[in-house]
Amino acid sequence: MDQTTKKIFHQPVMVKEVLELLVYDKAGTYVDATVGGGGHSEAIIRILEPEGRLIGIDKDEEALKYTNERLRNWKDRITFIHGNFSSIKALLKRIDIDKVNGMLFDLGVSSYQIETPERGFSFSKDGPLDMRMDKNQAFEAKTVINEYNQKQLARIFYTYGEERFANKIAKEIVEYRKTHLIESTMELVNIIKGSIKVVNINKVLARVFQSIRIAVNSELENLDNILDEVLNTLVPGGQVCFISYHSLEDRRVKRHFKLKSQNCICPPSLPECRCNHKKEIEILTPRGIRPSKHEIELNPKSRSAILRAAKKI
Ligand SMILES: C[S@@+](CC[C@H](N)C(=O)[O-])C[C@H]1O[C@@H](n2cnc3c(N)ncnc32)[C@H](O)[C@@H]1O
Repeated sequence: MDQTTKKIFHQPVMVKEVLELLVYDKAGTYVDATVGGGGHSEAIIRILEPEGRLIGIDKDEEALKYTNERLRNWKDRITFIHGNFSSIKALLKRIDIDKVNGMLFDLGVSSYQIETPERGFSFSKDGPLDMRMDKNQAFEAKTVINEYNQKQLARIFYTYGEERFANKIAKEIVEYRKTHLIESTMELVNIIKGSIKVVNINKVLARVFQSIRIAVNSELENLDNILDEVLNTLVPGGQVCFISYHSLEDRRVKRHFKLKSQNCICPPSLPECRCNHKKEIEILTPRGIRPSKHEIELNPKSRSAILRAAKKI
């Protein structure tokens, strides 16, 4: 990784807002479950008192290696763990931790992952059809593109990319691969370009690439799992922050927070409560928080971000 790559690894989003919503006890233990380039991790460890501790998790070993080195000044107070945040309980158990004060999930991919052609996430740079956040995983984008049938491909493009030309694109892919194995991102880009006529092809490419990435990394399943698990890992009064970058993620977080913040979830037609549902959280961000205009000017990639936070009762 050269010096330029280091500079652009990732620009963290809404750092001030995350600190305000996450760190309520500066001597506590916090988890950054999506370390990436360590921007949020650094901000958190900087404001913690000497007893405060940070656990940094990522699926991507390159990110952990880079951030481990970058934050070496705090090495006595930060523990890095390679793994999938959806197994949070098991990951924390490895270091004898049961519950923490706060957890941050800055979802999706880092700029480094997108901008490194060999990782295969980008539709504007040629690279292998890979897209794995965790290189130890066997399942790659190449498998999806070369082995899924037309219906399965169309479903991925439509459900994870909300792409209206999903079926046409899937049909063209299946046709092309009768004679060739599809191996590179540019090959896929050219097939997509040949399958439809639209004014803004880049928007279609962005949606299709996003959908493949979500499928390869089981991003929505991981999010659903952690939403179910996160409260079991927080102390009472503990706080959690989620930063989402598209509506598929944000809708899940919002819906889950709403459900967990209600005392009764019976249909309004029932005369009395029969569900015995108990409120477990207090929502700290009723409408979600967006980056300021100033932040978007400085970091246009932050424009789609939405931050939601909650406190365990
Ligand atoms: C948006 S970046 C985080 C950037 C980070 N906040 C920073 O300041 O640099 C998302 C990171 O989360 C990681 N990631 C995504 N899903 C994950 C999962 N299920 N478990 C662990 N890490 C995950 C990705 O590998 C990526 O490095």
